[in-house]
Amino acid sequence: MSFQDIFGCEPAVTATAPGRVNLLGEHTDYNDGYVLPTAIPQRTTVAMRPNSQAEFIVYAADLATEARFYRDEGPGDHFAQYVHGCIRGIEALGVKVPVLDIHVESDVPIGVGLSSSAALEVATLRALRELLRLDIDDVRIAQIAQRAEIEFAGVNCGIMDQMASSLADTRSVLFLDTRTLERRLLPMPPRTELLVLDSGISRSLAASGYNERRAQCEEAATRLGVGALRDVDDPAAVEALPDPLRRRARHVVTENARVLRAVDGVDAAEFGRLMNESHASLRDDYEVSVAPLDRLVELLQAHPDVHGARLTGAGFGGACVALCREGTASGVARRVLAGYAADGHAGRQLVPAAEEGA
Ligand code: GLA
Repeated sequence: MSFQDIFGCEPAVTATAPGRVNLLGEHTDYNDGYVLPTAIPQRTTVAMRPNSQAEFIVYAADLATEARFYRDEGPGDHFAQYVHGCIRGIEALGVKVPVLDIHVESDVPIGVGLSSSAALEVATLRALRELLRLDIDDVRIAQIAQRAEIEFAGVNCGIMDQMASSLADTRSVLFLDTRTLERRLLPMPPRTELLVLDSGISRSLAASGYNERRAQCEEAATRLGVGALRDVDDPAAVEALPDPLRRRARHVVTENARVLRAVDGVDAAEFGRLMNESHASLRDDYEVSVAPLDRLVELLQAHPDVHGARLTGAGFGGACVALCREGTASGVARRVLAGYAADGHAGRQLVPAAEEGA
């Protein structure tokens, strides 16, 4: 149902933002490291209009559900907490946000590691920027969105997802230094196409496992006497750490090196090799993969039209990404998903968006 159907009038403003898929640089952003995401075609659209009630109303068209909350009292454990967090983030700038009717519509897959929450936050903040004529740029939007996620949704995340949703596009990859926020839009490796598959395994441990990994990285950095693992310049020092800190730190150090290598103008085959190495490192050293996801990645890596594949996002289930030869992604998906089904798992194609009824 549209804004008009729910609220009986047209919205004052409408804004959109995309989900993202990360190609390399996983679990590096909260270590001040490097990342390489790109936007996916799926987007979240947020429409809003001031109302004359006491409560904010958020209607999510795809979930056919509504949440109500007050400025000082959030909606609890609900998708609308991200919207509430963004409103509070704008108010923290000293701006009064009027009570609003809000309509959310999205085709970004939820809960698979493609940043549906960042897309919701960035679209909400873009709509608020337009409605209230705020002088804030896209980086500031990403920073407010990240704070909303940490403070109101309880995931101690880095800034990659929000920067990607706010600044990336689907034609290039965003090379971002998460410490300085310096960034460059780079071309995709020539004659390639991305494929994103959902493993069908839900990411139930994601929040607790994520926060635990982050704490381990901070401890490793302290023991190594550096501000963040990004600053490790002697990989041998990492080998002296006790396990599991040694393997956690080794992942971060080698992953940062892989991103820097990839942006050094490598060809598709080398880019793919770096993705394969990244998956192995996430599986063995960082331990954020699960067996069915490993199987799906292995099937992708074995396909002759795939340069490389890896899990993407926080891990613990969710999606994986493959770099394919141009024009082959949907064919690769069919073959690989059939193999995955033969093993008793139900995966699905997310990017390119599968055709209706296919
Ligand atoms: C989640 C977080 C990001 C990043 C990735 C892992 O998506 O929100 O900040 O840490 O996991 O690379």
